[in-house]
Amino acid sequence: MKSRSAHPLLILVLVLWLPACEPSATVAPDAEPAAVAAVDRQRLRAAETDTDNWMSYGRTYSEQRYSTLDQINEETVTDLGLAWSFDLKTERGVEATSIVVDGVMYTTSSWSIVHALNARTGNLLWTYDPKVAKDKTRHACCDAVNRGVAVWRGQVFVGVLDGRLVALNAATGAVNWSVATVDPELPYTITGAPRVIDGKVLIGNGGAEYGVRGFIAAYDVNSGQLVWRFYTVPGDPALGFENKAMEMAAATWKGEWWKLGGGGGTVWDAMAYDPELELLYIGVGNGTPWNREIRSPGGGDNLFLSSIVALRPDTGEYVWHYQTTPGESWDYTATQHIILADIEWEGKTRKVLMQAPKNGFFYVIDRVSGELLSANNYIDITWATHVDMDTGRPVEVPGARYEEKEFLVTPSYLGGHNWHPMSYNPDTGLVYIPVLDFPANYAQPEHFLYRPGVSNVGTDGIIGSLPDAQSEREAMRPLMQGRLLAWDPRTQREVWRVEHKGPWNGGTLTTAGNLVFQGTADGNFVIFSADEGKQLWDFPTRTGVVAPAMTYAIDGEQYVSINVGWGGAYALVFGEFVQAESLPNVSRVLTFKLGASGQLPNVDWKPRVVFNPPPPTGDATTIRIGYALYQDICMGCHGLNAVSGLLIPDLRGSAYLHDAAGWNAVVREGALRVNGMAAFGQWLSKEQSETVRSYVIQQAHRGQKLQQ
Ligand code: HEC
Repeated sequence: MKSRSAHPLLILVLVLWLPACEPSATVAPDAEPAAVAAVDRQRLRAAETDTDNWMSYGRTYSEQRYSTLDQINEETVTDLGLAWSFDLKTERGVEATSIVVDGVMYTTSSWSIVHALNARTGNLLWTYDPKVAKDKTRHACCDAVNRGVAVWRGQVFVGVLDGRLVALNAATGAVNWSVATVDPELPYTITGAPRVIDGKVLIGNGGAEYGVRGFIAAYDVNSGQLVWRFYTVPGDPALGFENKAMEMAAATWKGEWWKLGGGGGTVWDAMAYDPELELLYIGVGNGTPWNREIRSPGGGDNLFLSSIVALRPDTGEYVWHYQTTPGESWDYTATQHIILADIEWEGKTRKVLMQAPKNGFFYVIDRVSGELLSANNYIDITWATHVDMDTGRPVEVPGARYEEKEFLVTPSYLGGHNWHPMSYNPDTGLVYIPVLDFPANYAQPEHFLYRPGVSNVGTDGIIGSLPDAQSEREAMRPLMQGRLLAWDPRTQREVWRVEHKGPWNGGTLTTAGNLVFQGTADGNFVIFSADEGKQLWDFPTRTGVVAPAMTYAIDGEQYVSINVGWGGAYALVFGEFVQAESLPNVSRVLTFKLGASGQLPNVDWKPRVVFNPPPPTGDATTIRIGYALYQDICMGCHGLNAVSGLLIPDLRGSAYLHDAAGWNAVVREGALRVNGMAAFGQWLSKEQSETVRSYVIQQAHRGQKLQQ
């Protein structure tokens, strides 16, 4: 029925009359969805053809981030303009993909805050703030981010930074249930979007560096009860194994890994689902600590670190795995976006799964069996030469494990590709990958101390990744690049590329309009032709972008929406480059349509550091100790070499540099805890915290000199 041509009264009559004549006896429970967020099993399985809506994180269970909407296309795109914007009011990283169902948008900002908006106007319907304790960020490697919600039969599900999974009434935002998915005492965090499969909400978690044992869990949508949990790494063998898969995995570990925080292997982002095969695919993260020599002395593959694992979504039962980086030692997570597609392979259509994990290889895997079909590096890499197709294993470059001396590793811990979603366009057959090119030195640490609840990487890589000397830092700058890469999975070859100014840009969306959409670190929302990479349109977002765009339609009108507001690991850590290049964080939802012409106000401020350091304190040895402690404990938030990305105060401008008692109260006792500055007294004696102050004072003098 085309409602536009029908008389309104007639519609009313039909609406009143229709439900009555539905044969109630054959109605499955799923066939009577609630009026809002009316997503159910049938609808999600048919999402590919439900083009007006974007009902789950990657649009469909195959996570292609491809839409057949084509009103906005190569010809019309120049007429695209801003329809509305919504202020998220949180000045931290914004990574969410919005969900749109039947005219309502559900999106998140940092601190796991959920907003429901009218998708046509941007008018706020409701907000849910889980009130995360701000100092929980001490367990979050990569900012207070959240990547979005899932919806199902009138409920909205959000994973909260502190490990809660919350079910909200989609009409009102009221809490239906809330469960702790993790032991709140442990340094787990949730930043990923849940997925819903047949009445179960699936959620993983992060925190591997801080010392946790990774898992994914399924909860009943109605009661919030745990249905199953699948651990990705074995626990203490003396306590017995949960299942056969854990027993198999334990044979690939050495030493007493469970005493160093539990092995890691968190499932913090990627999931995909094939309803025909009844297989759920999850991406598993890095080890705790990164350095295998410390984690599992003497070697071993350390299953299921850095693996793609196929599970039965009903029971959590293990089916198969493919390990991208056996015995990972570089933070090479395989949590990156997984895409399912059916592609031509050696004359036959194969059901494949594609991933471009951090380690630099693009993998095409048979998703029925887990068989590796092909692998090729999508960026220049230094740690391996190729993947051996007989064994399915990477052939490592001697020395890459930095056992004896340091090694310049590309890609580094930020990956050749990080969480920023890629997309697959079946019309062009290409995958659009937001790529990072970013080397870092890795070395054995002089001594390793496991500190539960604090970042434990077990390499001197982080310290070495940005040299302290100004000239050496400058020399590294050209090595840090980012680009949009169009990759042909059939030939495993690059088709086109667009270079960006910095490495940390947005995820991608692609559509049947022959378009690819991407936001950039330098504040542009850009549209390229999908076949050739020709730039067709751009819009100044007035702030950096890391989130991917999404698209939907209401009453035959296509919209494209993107959340803007730069942040995440790179933005926090690489302050020096960020301060030089970046725009202030103004977190917003921006929504575009043809014929609209909205403009964003110019942002005429930028946070900056005002230097006023006291005279230098401490001798060279003191400062060296302070430097190491700073890079171990403070750097993740306040930036490498005490240069902050300005989402969090730059300590070189802090008045506490003049105030030893105040410094102690803030740093060791948590005087600013409610604002997100945790107490670090457990890890820093008063003397040690003074060495950090001496180091920061030195850096303040250096910064002041450079500014003159
Ligand atoms: C998990 C993130 C995080 C870590 C790790 C962290 N800080 Fe902070 N810190 C913050 C935040 C957020 C603030 C801002 C608090 C506010 O707005 O009042 C802050 C503020 C401060 C301030 C006050 C700055 C000012 O002038 O207002 C000092 C001093 C400080 N931090 C020192 C440290 C030191 C030293 C370390 C390492 C031992 C450290 N911080 C580790 C997040 C962090």
